[in-house]
Amino acid sequence: MRSLRVAHERKASTRVHNGRFTEKVAFITGAARGQGRAEALRLAQEGADIIAVDIRRKLDSTIYPGATQADLKEAVRLVEALGRRIVATAVDVRDFDSLSEALCAGVAELGRLDVVIANAGISSANMSWEVRPEQWQETIDINLTGAFFTAKAAIPILIDQGTGGCIVMTSSTAGLKGLPFCGHYVASKHGLVGLAKTMASWAWAPERSAADRVMTDVPLGRSAAPRLGSILVYALFTVRNLGENVLSGGE
Ligand SMILES: NC(=O)c1ccc[n+]([C@@H]2O[C@H](COP(=O)([O-])OP(=O)(O)OC[C@H]3O[C@@H](n4cnc5c(N)ncnc54)[C@H](O)[C@@H]3O)[C@@H](O)[C@H]2O)c1
Repeated sequence: MRSLRVAHERKASTRVHNGRFTEKVAFITGAARGQGRAEALRLAQEGADIIAVDIRRKLDSTIYPGATQADLKEAVRLVEALGRRIVATAVDVRDFDSLSEALCAGVAELGRLDVVIANAGISSANMSWEVRPEQWQETIDINLTGAFFTAKAAIPILIDQGTGGCIVMTSSTAGLKGLPFCGHYVASKHGLVGLAKTMASWAWAPERSAADRVMTDVPLGRSAAPRLGSILVYALFTVRNLGENVLSGGE
């Protein structure tokens, strides 16, 4: 899997891109590795500067290795190698105050905020009635509450800035239907879809004048991920100067 990722990143760095995100800043959670890192690199290739956060440690309920400080450093190195700036901070998306502080520090350094990608997430498996209480809680807290905190920290900045923006919440096939052995994960991703639909439909109504238009319930397709996971992204709203499909052209 690692060699596939490295090959993907190497191939991606040699592609010619058209600067669709020049002078834009993207905030990405869970950016140390995987899809979060892929999104950071893809947007940097298109000219964006990056605000990255990651917990960069193993989570209790998962059985796979956690991201590391070295992973986060490598993400920083790869973005900088593309000639873009990046502000990376070790943050847990469950800690609203620290998340908000890291975002504000990134915005202060990079000057603005345009794209928000709530990507940080974990998964684990169990028969639904055998999911341990702490396993349930950790999954809901990171996948759902963490994404809510990400949007909650970012939206006031986007409103104050007044130039619109785009929020992407990373769901899953598990956000669309039930799947075996992961009731807790499915619940978190369904919750995420509900949150995205609600924010897109209603929460922004008074702010619609700041946005070119509000997109509701619009799956934008798979993200530019190094894996074959079936990723569905939802845009809460978008503006003219960003283009409507943040991560189009992915797998
Ligand atoms: N890979 C797939 O097949 C697949 C399929 C469907 C959906 N997804 C979703 O895509 C997203 C990314 O998945 P991935 O495959 O790249 O996983 P990954 O484990 O490779 O990357 C997730 C990143 O999020 C970080 N993270 C986890 N908890 C965090 C927290 N509390 N605070 C801050 N950072 C945290 C991790 O450290 C890691 O760097 C997740 O939301 C996942 O549910 C993935």
